[in-house]
Amino acid sequence: MKTFPCIEDLRQQARRNVPKMFFDYAEAGSYAQETLRANRTDFERIKLRQRVLVDVSARDTSTTILGEKVPLPLALGPIGLGGMMHGDGEILACRAAQAAGIPYTLSTMSVCSIEDVAAAVDKPFWFQLYVMRDRGFMRELIERAVAAKCSALMLTVDLQVLGQRHCDMRNGLSVPPEIKLKNLIDIATKPAWALSILKGKRKTFGNLAGHVKGMEGITSLAQWTASQFDPTLNWKDLAWIKSHWPGKLLLKGILDIEDAKIAIKEGVTTLVVSNHGGRQLDGAPSSITALPRMVDAVGSRIEVMFDGGIRSGADLMRALALGARSCIVGRSYIYGLGAAGQAGVARAIEILGKELDVTMALCGVTSIKDIDRSVIAEI
Ligand code: GLV
Repeated sequence: MKTFPCIEDLRQQARRNVPKMFFDYAEAGSYAQETLRANRTDFERIKLRQRVLVDVSARDTSTTILGEKVPLPLALGPIGLGGMMHGDGEILACRAAQAAGIPYTLSTMSVCSIEDVAAAVDKPFWFQLYVMRDRGFMRELIERAVAAKCSALMLTVDLQVLGQRHCDMRNGLSVPPEIKLKNLIDIATKPAWALSILKGKRKTFGNLAGHVKGMEGITSLAQWTASQFDPTLNWKDLAWIKSHWPGKLLLKGILDIEDAKIAIKEGVTTLVVSNHGGRQLDGAPSSITALPRMVDAVGSRIEVMFDGGIRSGADLMRALALGARSCIVGRSYIYGLGAAGQAGVARAIEILGKELDVTMALCGVTSIKDIDRSVIAEI
């Protein structure tokens, strides 16, 4: 494999490999992309304390996530259309995560289905749920996740309606890609991608096709989401979901402390501080700005995970320092997938882990439990 020293190099390679329509989909934020940018710029403002002459020879990046021992405070988050970054993309990403010993979350909007992934890997993975209007289908989807022995359900709560990503409109994002001259020319210049997609099991939304009407054939993602996702979703629906899902439940997309407090009252034990990678409410605070407020308000009563803008081990360190128990990445690993399939995802995980290890050493800490606000020099 080519040498990829950092996540940005994986990103550049993914951009070269993957047709624009799908690369842009992964890359985009909503509207003016203010929150997308803030997710990064607010991270970069946080400076770490350089500490010296501490024995850091025995370092340990392991911790627990939802009670399970993991070698890194990291999980791979749900990504719609992962299987359009590389054929069988979700299977490859799940295999890379499991080889690294960290959780993988399959998106409702994945290309490979729950069953495809379950048949191709040997350990349980997490399933991410979007709630749609058709509750019969919802029940069926949850039951499929139970049957596949998924080890946690991640309920995404910040996408009742879709924040518009302008590039998806401009590119005419559809799944599979519409046969337009512009798309054909783009695909013709990406033969390795085209071959991997051709060889892949599926070319459309695997969890939905054959289960939901209107999923066959070419579909505009934005239109379909608008017609199917349930804008009535509210706290009362949590009990209904729990009545069908007996296992561990995470709420993803909490950015406000009032919502976190309600979540605790409703019996939620793990939440993911997230603004959906800057893809939903544009103008919302960056995830890293919201994190310390959340941890101050509820952190001792709940497992707080962090999502939004992590591109390095130093970012993992910053999020842990501000109180996250562990972190979720999306784009960082999707770039790896687009760059080099399973090996690229494995490399993304390795980069983040090694950078965290070195960052810990240079901050003079040797274990995850010792990372707290004292490692921060300035915000
Ligand atoms: C779906 O999760 C999206 O962000 O497009």
